[in-house]
Amino acid sequence: MMATPCKPQCFPNQRLSFSLPSLVMIITWLFSVTESAAPITVKGEVGGNVTIFHLNEGPVEFFYFQRGTEYVNGYHSTKPLNDSVPWPNTRLSEDKRTLYMYNLNISHSGNYECYVNKNHERDVIQYIVHLNVTAKYTVPEVKMNCNGLSCMVTCSSYGGYPKNSMSWSIPGSQKVWKEVDSNVTEDPNTMMMNIVSTAYFNCSNGELQHNRCSVGEVTSDMFRVCTPSSTTGNYYVIPIATSALVGISIIMALLLLWKCKKRRTGAVAIDVRQEWGMDGQTEEEVELKNTAS
Ligand SMILES: *[C@@H]1O[C@H](CO)[C@@H](O)[C@H](O)[C@H]1NC(C)=O
Ligand SMILES: *[C@@H]1O[C@H](CO)[C@@H](O)[C@H](O)[C@H]1NC(C)=O
Ligand SMILES: *[C@@H]1O[C@H](CO)[C@@H](O)[C@H](O)[C@H]1NC(C)=O
Ligand SMILES: *[C@@H]1O[C@H](CO)[C@@H](O)[C@H](O)[C@H]1NC(C)=O
Ligand SMILES: *[C@@H]1O[C@H](CO)[C@@H](O)[C@H](O)[C@H]1NC(C)=O
Ligand SMILES: *[C@@H]1O[C@H](CO)[C@@H](O)[C@H](O)[C@H]1NC(C)=O
Repeated sequence: MMATPCKPQCFPNQRLSFSLPSLVMIITWLFSVTESAAPITVKGEVGGNVTIFHLNEGPVEFFYFQRGTEYVNGYHSTKPLNDSVPWPNTRLSEDKRTLYMYNLNISHSGNYECYVNKNHERDVIQYIVHLNVTAKYTVPEVKMNCNGLSCMVTCSSYGGYPKNSMSWSIPGSQKVWKEVDSNVTEDPNTMMMNIVSTAYFNCSNGELQHNRCSVGEVTSDMFRVCTPSSTTGNYYVIPIATSALVGISIIMALLLLWKCKKRRTGAVAIDVRQEWGMDGQTEEEVELKNTAS
């Protein structure tokens, strides 16, 4: 996304446009003291491109764009600037009036200065450009772990900038939940932030619906806690129940096979009795059950 280029008032090409006292104007003229206009803010996103500087009109003798004492890019109408290597992620337009910055990352954030000299003027105008690079946090990922009486829910969001915090939107009573831990860490390579926040929910008042967690404008899907299924076990209750059901079905099928086999071959009742755990029962009772089924 391109930042909007500076409005004309950002780049006054006549010193007279400043309503300064005349003495200051004379001093400025004689000593070529730099004038500074109001800082210009340019917004960009990580990986994006911006127009970081644009001169609207009038001839230009030179302009230098720098950060502190570090040269970023520039132009001089009569001198080659080949002793200064421009930042590789910057490019000057053909007409030498617009400077672009590409593939932004967090370390490009900060203040830059631009020194502009118009032809036939002896003063240099200084502009301060504030580049603000941001990164969108990922949609918070929700994970929950319930033990029947309570649930611990973790919301995680990654790769954002600037630093922010996780906020929880839990309709209903404030008493049944609380944020118990929040951890914001910086990725040392990208300088971007990761947020992991954990909240505790008391399930004694039943299910809590329409919950969300969010970082700035980025919001998770709605989630429910203390649902009937989550209170009977934990988050993995469904896979466990399914595998138990499959196990029981297999045992039943095997037992049926046993019974069919027994009828045909007249296998001894004691085997079935052991299978059913009915060791204390008499052979007659077991025989009765088998014929009944
Ligand atoms: C930024 O500029 C590069 C090079 O011109 C281009 O490949 C890329 O698509 C641009 N990205 C955006 C987000 O505009
Ligand atoms: C810059 O380039 C000019 C000609 O293009 C050359 O004469 C000069 O030596 C170069 N200066 C440096 C510092 O490389
Ligand atoms: C950068 O922009 C973001 C979003 O507009 C804002 O919250 C933040 O305060 C700005 N940072 C600076 C240093 O201006
Ligand atoms: C925050 O998370 C990081 C990485 O997972 C971990 O090393 C650190 O100990 C955590 N800090 C706190 C206060 O929990
Ligand atoms: C940002 O990009 C510059 C190159 O433009 C690179 O040298 C620097 O390591 C990058 N920094 C981060 C924090 O990614
Ligand atoms: C959960 O809430 C109930 C009723 O509000 C309360 O009696 C109980 O002590 C709470 N449990 C915990 C672990 O805080």
